[in-house]
Amino acid sequence: MLVLGIESSCDETAAAVVADGTRVLSNVVASQIKIHESFGGVVPELASREHLRKIAPVVDEACRQAGTPLQGIDAVAVTEGPGLIGSLLVGLVYGKALALSLGKPLVGVNHLEGHIHAVLLHNTIERQEGKSVPAAGFPSITLVVSGGHTSLFRVDRDAASGSGSPSFSYKALGQTRDDAAGEAFDKVAKLLALGYPGGPVIDRLAREGNPSTVKFSRIRMKGNPLDFSFSGLKTAVLYRVRGTALASEAEERRIWRSASPDAVSDEELRAHCSRSTLDLVASFQRAVVTDLVERTLAAATGAGIRTIFVSGGVACNSLLRERFAKAGEEHGFNVFFPSLRLSTDNAAMIAAAGYYRLAAGHRADSSLNAHASFPLGNNPA
Ligand code: KG4
Ligand code: ZN
Repeated sequence: MLVLGIESSCDETAAAVVADGTRVLSNVVASQIKIHESFGGVVPELASREHLRKIAPVVDEACRQAGTPLQGIDAVAVTEGPGLIGSLLVGLVYGKALALSLGKPLVGVNHLEGHIHAVLLHNTIERQEGKSVPAAGFPSITLVVSGGHTSLFRVDRDAASGSGSPSFSYKALGQTRDDAAGEAFDKVAKLLALGYPGGPVIDRLAREGNPSTVKFSRIRMKGNPLDFSFSGLKTAVLYRVRGTALASEAEERRIWRSASPDAVSDEELRAHCSRSTLDLVASFQRAVVTDLVERTLAAATGAGIRTIFVSGGVACNSLLRERFAKAGEEHGFNVFFPSLRLSTDNAAMIAAAGYYRLAAGHRADSSLNAHASFPLGNNPA
């Protein structure tokens, strides 16, 4: 079964063709980084307009790379939410119109469900390629951590139904009450004029800094201990910078960057950062990563679950991967990540999640609509 996945919830226009929910025949992503870079964050109207420009060529390219004409697609899976409404609507309307005109089934997919399926998809691919990795089992505790989300879920795979295909159920255990972790990376990078998106830049610069230099206090949560909050940490960084030499240095960097028309290399950026800036970003990154790892392990321990999935753009973070791998070894958890390409927004994860929904009998009709807010699983207790 060939599923065409379409994803346009934020600033990536993406389309992919996935066979039987497990084989990625194409995975095309048109990034809008260049458009939003100078703003240090996604500008919703610009994002929608760019999706409109890119959606048709991206879908065509996904079919071309998969070696199938559009008519060869068996079903269309499209992101229904959560996300930026103007962005979501472009992919949703395009997917809906395609399904209608081709006479093929359509299914809506929750973006977070897509991120969860990215882990399973990557694990299946690795095993198909003969790599000796353990099978990603269920139930799992899944951390979805990106620019828009920081959420913990319990995921269960329900036995194969009459269709012969399993279905999945999701229980929300906790979520961020303010900034998402990726958003905090992006805002700190913006404050320090390090570039956009901030996560990858801070990840690379932090390798050169000492993470023990700045002692940020642990993030304390009243109520649900599996919720997250990163705005206090972001503000703590702001207070460390405001009115100090770090602020003048950031201002100089801002001027230098706006005068350089081309992308700056890591070496050039490094040369424009003092030791104190490197130490600050390394300490900030460590504080975020420590919090993410500890709450996820607490969720897994509390539920008595040994399998952990980590997905979303921040799952690309090298320290996060390292710390989860170490914690997994030390405390006996199996931790699974998608490839870097499947961690950030893409449509292969939407096609894979859509495949299981279709196999379980889900079908969307022409009333399918986009939802800026679209919770996955029931609300935390
Ligand atoms: O999943 P994604 O592509 O889009 C959303 O659904 O938000 O995630 C993008 C986010 C951005 O905030 C970006 O800064 C962050 O993921 N990110 C990283 C890294 N790579 C991307 N954060 C930390 N370290 C990274 N290496
Ligand atoms: Zn995402």
